Parts: sequence; structure tokens; C-alpha cells
Amino acid sequence: MSAILLTGGAGYIGSHTALALLRAGFDVISIDNYSNSNDEALKRVQKLAGRNLQSLQMDIRDEPALTALFKQHRISAVVHFAGLKAVGESTEQPLAYYDNNVAGTITLCRVMQQAHVKRLVFSSSATVYGDAKTMPIAESAPRSATNPYGQSKLMIEHILEDLAASDPAWSIALLRYFNPVGADKSGQIGEDPNGIPNNLMPFISQVAVGKRTELSVFGNDYPTKDGTGVRDYIHVVDLADGHLKALEYVQQHTGIDAFNLGTGVGYSVLDMVQAFADKNKVPVPYRIVARRPGDIASCYADPGKASQLLRWQAKLTLDDMVQDSWRWQQQNPHGYQE
Ligand code: NAD
Ligand code: WQD
Repeated sequence: MSAILLTGGAGYIGSHTALALLRAGFDVISIDNYSNSNDEALKRVQKLAGRNLQSLQMDIRDEPALTALFKQHRISAVVHFAGLKAVGESTEQPLAYYDNNVAGTITLCRVMQQAHVKRLVFSSSATVYGDAKTMPIAESAPRSATNPYGQSKLMIEHILEDLAASDPAWSIALLRYFNPVGADKSGQIGEDPNGIPNNLMPFISQVAVGKRTELSVFGNDYPTKDGTGVRDYIHVVDLADGHLKALEYVQQHTGIDAFNLGTGVGYSVLDMVQAFADKNKVPVPYRIVARRPGDIASCYADPGKASQLLRWQAKLTLDDMVQDSWRWQQQNPHGYQE
């Protein structure tokens, strides 16, 4: 039987997608260099699924190793999560981001081409919309980047568009995630950031569990309902399901298509703090501080295209997001490194 290859399968979104794929009966191979993850995540995934996957330590830029992998296994499609994702770090280390994300994707696609595996689901991001002028954002909105991380995602989208145009056998889905949060209901797998979290939800969770004293809310003078930034938070379990739908789609269609994976609903920073505190009955002290450079006021999706073509819609609620994030944080106060 052929397998689905996940690059970056041990990471936050990769591990939840691996679980969804195993539960749906797929054979799964994961490659990861563990630069931002721990193989404990996939051990837990296998326990939760009651089935095994094959997990290998490999860098997507290691062309000989990748080539050998494609020779050894029958791979029907690739879901490509591997990459670096910290916006601030990307401005300090642009070469590392272009090398990992852009050069890594080129290597992966070259190996796929040689192996005649031409179905690809790629982890893109709402960051490719830059500071969008109209909300909600449709896939046809203009694209731009405001930092090297975003630039790397935009470059990869262009590269994949050129690749699909060069050879009609390619079948590619660009999944533009909005703001992934939450964790599997078991509390066994979740987001485990290194050091101080950059993103809002892991920061709130670490404040609630007592690891950090308070949340800094980056600005309350945005043109939004309460002045704090508005985002489209999407539960990672819904997101994982979106990958299964995208895999079905690339089995049935050739060419390249972009899909927003979001709920279509925007919540402010203070909405998130309040929902977390109220639902979980735990205090989340915060203080309003200056805006974070590069942040935008609002960003939420028009998820209509994914609903129509992928038959995918987010189902889980804000309550699920804050409760599931908190369960993971409480059960694993130090992430995977107990
Ligand atoms: P993550 O860091 O948890 O997962 C990425 C995984 O890729 C990690 O396990 C890391 O070790 C691995 N990796 C990195 N470089 C590699 C390389 N050269 N070779 C092999 N493995 C490598 O991040 P995530 O949140 O799961 O994100 C997955 C993908 O989704 C990324 O491409 C990210 O840019 C994209 N994305 C994430 C978000 C988000 O907020 N989490 C939003 C939009 C898009
Ligand atoms: C959300 C809101 C902050 C932390 C980033 C990337 C994007 C995508 C998702 C990968 C904003 C506010 C945050 C804090 C705060 N990643 N905030 N205090 O910036 O929307 O998106 O992650 O593709 O590319 O840019 O997400 O979680 O950092 O911030 O007030 O300590 O929370 O200002 O309004 P963001 P985030």
C-alpha cells in the first residue's frame, strides 16, 4: 500500500495531521530534523491512534537521503509542513529562513519530480496577504510579504505555481492557515514552543499555568472593536481535517489551487483572554503595552472556497480552542520535555 509522506510531521500541525491520517486508515511516513520538535510527539500519536507510523530523522535539504526514501517507499502524496516559522527570528536570520523554507522546498520538489510523485499539499500562511485592505480575505486578494518568513512562503507559492504551469501532471494545494490554536482532546499532543512563545495562545497558557507572570497585550489603539488585534483563530484539529480534505482534492484534480483554512470569524486579543479565563476558571493577568512592530489590526478569512471545493468547514468553537489548549498545558507544563 502507498503512504502519505509528512515533512515536519513531528511539529505542532504535523503531529495532529499524522493522528488524523492514522485514524482515517492511511499509512504515514514522517520525516523531521527535530529542529523545533520532539519525537515524543509522534510516539504519543501512535498510542492515541493505536497504529504505527514510520518516523525518520531527516532534513528536507538532504537530497541523497530524500531520494533514497522515495526509492524505498511507495509514496502517493506529500504534505509539506517542514520549515521555520518565527517571524521575529526571520528578520534576524533571513538566510536560515530562505535556506530552510525555500531551498528545502526546491530540493523536496526536485526529488518528488524524479520519483514521479506529483501530489503536494503545502503549508502556506495567511501571512501571504500582508496587510490586507478588505476583510474577510478571499484567496484572490493581492499577496505581499512584510518579513523574510512571509517572503519565504510567498516565494514558495510562486515556485509551486511555476512548477504546476510547467507540467500538468502536478497537483498542488496551497493551504493558507490563519491562526492555529488548541490541541487534541486527549491533552497528549499540543504546541510546544521553545523558549518565550511568540504567539498569543501559548503565551496565555503559560501565564495561566504560572510559568509567566502576565501577558503583554500588544496595543489597544487599533481600529477594532476593543482596540486590540483581531485574528481568525482555528482549532488545530479542524486544520488537520482540512489536510485530509486537501489530500482527497489533489487525488482528484491536477493543477494548483490555494485555500484559506480559517473559520471566517475574528476575535480580539481581549476576547481570547476573557474566553480562556472564563471557560477554564483561571486568572490570566495582562497589561497593555506598545504595539508589536509589523503587526496588523485585523485578519480573518473568507473560508468559502474551501467549503465549496474541499467540502471542509471548521467545526470547533472558541470554547474548544481555549479548553483544549489549557488541557494540554496543564497536563504537560514543560511540553514534551518532562
Ligand atoms: P512546527 O515548528 O511545530 O513544525 C515544523 C516542523 O518542521 C518541526 O517539527 C521542525 O523540526 C521541522 N523542520 C523544520 N525545518 C526542517 C527541515 N529543514 N527538515 C526537516 N524538518 C524540518 O510548526 P507548525 O506550527 O506545525 O507549522 C507547520 C507549517 O505550517 C510550517 O511550514 C509553518 O510555517 C506553517 N504555518 C504555521 C502557522 C502557525 O501559526 N503555527 C501558521 C501558518 C503557517
Ligand atoms: C495574535 C494577536 C498580537 C502575543 C503569526 C504570524 C503568522 C502566522 C501565525 C505562520 C496579535 C497579539 C500576541 C502576545 C499579544 N504564522 N499578541 N501578545 O501575529 O497574527 O501571526 O502567527 O505563518 O505568519 O505572523 O499571531 O499569535 O503572534 O498574535 O498581544 O504576547 O495577539 O499582537 O494581535 P499573528 P500571534
